Amino acid sequence: MVQETSLSTNDFIFPLFIIEGQNQRTEISSMPGIYRYTVDMLLEEIASCVELGIKAFAPFPNIPEPLKDKYATESHNSEGLYAGAIREIKKNFPEVVLMTDVAMDPYSSDGHDGIVENGQILNDETLEVLGKMALVQARAGADIVGPSDMMDGRVGHIRRVLDENGFTKVGIMSYTAKYASAFYGPFRDALDSAPKMGDKKTYQMNPANSREALIEAELDTAEGADFLMVKPALAYLDIIKLLRDNAHLPIAAYNISGEYAMVKAAAQKGWIDGEKAMLETLTSIKRAGADIILSYFAKEFAQYLKK
Ligand code: PBG
Repeated sequence: MVQETSLSTNDFIFPLFIIEGQNQRTEISSMPGIYRYTVDMLLEEIASCVELGIKAFAPFPNIPEPLKDKYATESHNSEGLYAGAIREIKKNFPEVVLMTDVAMDPYSSDGHDGIVENGQILNDETLEVLGKMALVQARAGADIVGPSDMMDGRVGHIRRVLDENGFTKVGIMSYTAKYASAFYGPFRDALDSAPKMGDKKTYQMNPANSREALIEAELDTAEGADFLMVKPALAYLDIIKLLRDNAHLPIAAYNISGEYAMVKAAAQKGWIDGEKAMLETLTSIKRAGADIILSYFAKEFAQYLKK
């Protein structure tokens, strides 16, 4: 009666990884229990999640190295792996919410979220690519696009491109306060995408800053975001609370790959109780003020509830 915070499957978006081919799934070694799926097997995985009550998914593509280039051309190929997967998922599960990823890194030969020239990220030139990418995803059936790139001005640019093409109903979940984090490691393994040179510190946020998150939130709100996201979640619970207290849009938090990996690794060693640590972790994110949680634990949590 007096418990203030409770979790339900409605709170979650489940990230998924897609690979080319057929009838295959490969486990990500740094993320036990999480797989990259070919589209046919991904549909089975989504079916089993839907059965458990999960209603929203965030797929990410693993693009073969030969298809990557400096300008992430493959990112706006309407016949490519990602657009094809989105169409296929939407055809089979029209009722699920699909949030697609807008960023260059899965398709970039430089492994960066923006165009790299002479060691610098070209912010405004990158917006063009992001706009094209978002449009291809909207045409394929995305309900929400999620720019995870951290270029300045991308929410406004994507909103304009979508509206001009009639996709006024496609929402934008902005990765508003995305910090340059060591905890992204396992995700970069999953996608085989990491910066070939330098790091992402010129566009992702400094972990030492919190007021800057408010600036990002104001900009994203003004540019037309429908949701604001904080990422990672656990080392940034104060930022989730800060945005919750200062913004009026729904707040999402991304319980990222490294946060998942730490719980799994310690549990495998028998050093902590994995299930209890999962529940405590997810509860802390909701308690901090997240309305929506992106987590690799989504399915396991739904299974726990059923049990
Ligand atoms: C990049 C992107 C990253 C994640 C989602 N999109 C990592 C990065 O910025 O290098 C991380 C998600 C996770 O770690 O679970 N656009």
